[in-house]
Amino acid sequence: MAKKGRVFSGARPTGRQHLGNYLGAIKNYVALQDDYECVYCIVDLHALTTMDEFEDLKQNTAEMALDWLAAGIRPDETIMFVQSHVPQVTELHTILSMFTQLGKLTDLPTFKEKVAQHPHNVNYGLVGYPVLMTADIALYKTDTVPVGIDQASHIEFAREIVRTFNHRTQSNVLIEPQMKNTEYPKVLGTDGAQKMGKSLNNHIELAATPEETLARVMTMVTDPQRQRRTDPGRPEVCNVFTLHKTFSPNELPMIDRECRVAGIGCVDCKKILAKSLNADLAPFRARRAEIAKDPNRVWDVLHDGAKRATAIAEKTMDEVKAAVGLP
Ligand code: TRP
Repeated sequence: MAKKGRVFSGARPTGRQHLGNYLGAIKNYVALQDDYECVYCIVDLHALTTMDEFEDLKQNTAEMALDWLAAGIRPDETIMFVQSHVPQVTELHTILSMFTQLGKLTDLPTFKEKVAQHPHNVNYGLVGYPVLMTADIALYKTDTVPVGIDQASHIEFAREIVRTFNHRTQSNVLIEPQMKNTEYPKVLGTDGAQKMGKSLNNHIELAATPEETLARVMTMVTDPQRQRRTDPGRPEVCNVFTLHKTFSPNELPMIDRECRVAGIGCVDCKKILAKSLNADLAPFRARRAEIAKDPNRVWDVLHDGAKRATAIAEKTMDEVKAAVGLP
């Protein structure tokens, strides 16, 4: 079947994935495989830009790759690989940096945010973060980049670098990528206040056991106005209810009704959610356990992906070098 184009997306190796990663990114990655030729990259070099302490990149990469496979990434069709396994990306990054004005990089709001978060570690690599992203996208001749709205300015930036490159080299070597907004309503963490994330420890891991999932769900913050079991609740302000919308479609009208009249309490409501999550994630967890039986399996997939990615990268680099006149 003819595909619509080539998709590239990257994600930092953050280890075991959580519900926020799944709903916000992975689910889309899986669906896009039907219509596009997909290239999915674990961006370990990008991860280095904001590391104050060296984390276990290898372990985090393997756990994330395992989650991607269990969730339905099909590595026979899709190229799934680790960024640093294809070193041409650093070469392209260097060349593209000559087509990038420094002031534009330091003006980016995303750069300023990172400076605010890591004021003691404003390294050279961090400034070039969007240039490395552009190299990722351009190296694999990608036309479509599915990302959330937080990455929109980076994709716009990538388009600009590509345009400048093509214009100044009078070539049409690089493809100007289109952003495909895959925005999903923000998934809040168990605190019901901030976006779900591992660093905030407010996350629910896809690969958790049913018992761990229940324990995690039990810590979720609900409607603050509902202090006693007999107080009526407001589903519209409750993050447990928000997750029910995705995971408990059948029980939803009952939960909505009974919460409002205090027919069910928050503990009952959370038990239903844990049950729904565990039922929904059971096939994923079974597949994950099956794949994990062979510890070489993820690395075989990633190395095979890198091989296929390298074939595309080598060709692009030949064209790029010729365009800039490198001997
Ligand atoms: N910067 C992206 C993020 O933090 C990850 C990323 C790296 C990426 N390279 C990319 C996303 C290329 C899309 C395309 O989420």
